[in-house]
Amino acid sequence: MDHSRVPVLEALQEFRRRGDVVYGPPGHKQGRGVDPRVADVVGLDVFRSDVLSLNGLDDRRQSQEMLGQAQDLMADAVGAERAFFSTCGSSLSVKTAMLAVAGPGEKLLVSRNAHKSVIAAVVVNGVEPIWVHPKFDAGRHLAHPPEPDDVRRRLREHPDAKGMLLITPTDWGTCADVAGVARVCHEFDVPLIVDEAWGAHFPFHPELPAWGMDAEADLVVTSVHKMGGAIEQSSVFHLQYDRVSPEVLKQREDLLGTTSASSLVYATLDGWRRQMVEHGHVLLDAALCRAERVRSAVGDLPGLRPMGREVVKEGLAADVDPLKIAIDVRDLGITGMQAAEWLRAHRHVDVGGSDTCRINASLTHADDDETEEVLLGALRALADSADSIERQPPVRLPASPALELEQALLPRDAFFAPVEHVPAEHAAGRISAETISPYPPGVPVVAPGEVVTDGVLDYLRSGVDHGVLIPDAADPTLRTLRVVART
Ligand SMILES: Cc1ncc(COP(=O)(O)O)c(C=O)c1O
Repeated sequence: MDHSRVPVLEALQEFRRRGDVVYGPPGHKQGRGVDPRVADVVGLDVFRSDVLSLNGLDDRRQSQEMLGQAQDLMADAVGAERAFFSTCGSSLSVKTAMLAVAGPGEKLLVSRNAHKSVIAAVVVNGVEPIWVHPKFDAGRHLAHPPEPDDVRRRLREHPDAKGMLLITPTDWGTCADVAGVARVCHEFDVPLIVDEAWGAHFPFHPELPAWGMDAEADLVVTSVHKMGGAIEQSSVFHLQYDRVSPEVLKQREDLLGTTSASSLVYATLDGWRRQMVEHGHVLLDAALCRAERVRSAVGDLPGLRPMGREVVKEGLAADVDPLKIAIDVRDLGITGMQAAEWLRAHRHVDVGGSDTCRINASLTHADDDETEEVLLGALRALADSADSIERQPPVRLPASPALELEQALLPRDAFFAPVEHVPAEHAAGRISAETISPYPPGVPVVAPGEVVTDGVLDYLRSGVDHGVLIPDAADPTLRTLRVVART
C-alpha cells in the first residue's frame, strides 16, 4: 500500500483549498464565528480544520471513502486485518470491544487491574465479569497483568465465558505475556481482547514489547494520543481472525459512538500512521536510547529508584515498556503525589502519573535533548530539596489478598440498586454501589457489587489524607460511601 498517502488529511487540505461554505455544524463555521479571544489561545487553524466528514470533507454519499482508506492503511501499517478509528478515546472503544464479545448477562474474563472505563463497561454492558486477579508486587506495591495460567484456571472454571479482556501495558509500563494468554484463550476457542491503550507505539519498533496483533490477540484497542502522535481522544480498534465479527464490532460501536466524529482526530491518526511507517523506527530508536540514558542518570540520583527490567520475572511482569520511566521516591521520605506537586510548583514539570510510592514520566518519539535535560534537572532538584518537603504519616498499604474483594452482586445490579450513604466507619461488610478509583491511574480499588472491608477503607482513607484523588466516588473525601441499601 502507498503509505505516503494520507486520505483524511488530503481531504481536509482539499476542503480548505476549495473554501467550501458549510451550512451545517459546527456552528463556528470553520472559525468565522469564533470569539477572537478563544482563537488567540488555541489558534484559528483548529477551527478551520474542524469540519464534519459528511457534507464537509466528503459529499453526501461519502463517495471518497477516505476514512475507509485511512483505516486500511492503518491496518496494513500495524499488521492487523482490519482497523477502525474511534474519536471517543479508549474509554469508549474498550466498552465497544467488550460488547462485541459478550452481551448482557454473558460472562467475560476481565483482568482486575482494569482502568475505570472497563468497570464502567461491565456496568453499562451488563456483562458478568469473571475477574482474573493481577500479580501483586508487594515490594513495589504494584499490580502486574495476570499470567496465562491464571487465565487458563478461570476459563476451566467458566467454560461458558465468551472471551477475555487483558489490560497491558499497565499505566506504569509493565506488560503481560500477551502471546501466552492468546494461546490459552484460543485453546478454549474464545477471543482475546487487549486494552493496549498505552501501547500504540509498540508496532513500530522491535525492541518494544510485543504488539497485541503480533502476539495473536483477536481485538486490540489503543489510545494513540497516549504514547503516539495523534490528538486527545484518538483511539483505534484492530481486528484479526474470525472470532470477532467486524460487522458485530461495527454495529456495537454504532450503539455507543458519536454521530459527529472529529475530523481533527481522524486526520491526526492518519498523519501519525504515515509518520510511523516512514520514520517510526528511527524516531523510536532515538527515544529508546534517550530512555536508557534517563533511567541510568535517575538511578545515580540519591533517593530515586527507576524501575527497569528487574521487574521482568516469573510471578511479576512478562515485559516492560522502556519508554515509561517509573521512579520510586519513597527513599526521599515523600510520596509520589508530593513529588509530582513539587515538580509542577517548582520546576513547571508535569509528570504523567503519581501514586503513594512513585511518579511516572512517559518519553515518546517527541522528546528531545531539551526535554531530557528539563526532566533530569527537575529530578536532580527534587532529590536535593526533598528534605524540605513536609513529612506525612505513611499511607497504610494493604497486603495483596486484602485488595481482592468478594463480589456479592453483579456490578450492574449493585450500581442500579436502591442505595444509601453510610459513614465510612459503618461501611465494612456493605456492598459498594459505586466505583472508587484513586486517580490517576484510575484503576478501581472497589468496584460496584464488591464487599467493602476495613483493610481497603483504611488504605483508601489514609491515601485521601495524603492527597490521593477519588473523583468517581459520590463523596470524594470518603467520609461516606454509597452502598446498596439493605432491604
Ligand atoms: C489501560 C487503560 N485503558 C483505557 C483507558 C482510557 O483511555 P482514553 O483516555 O483514551 O479514553 C486508559 C486511560 O488512562 C487506560 O489507562
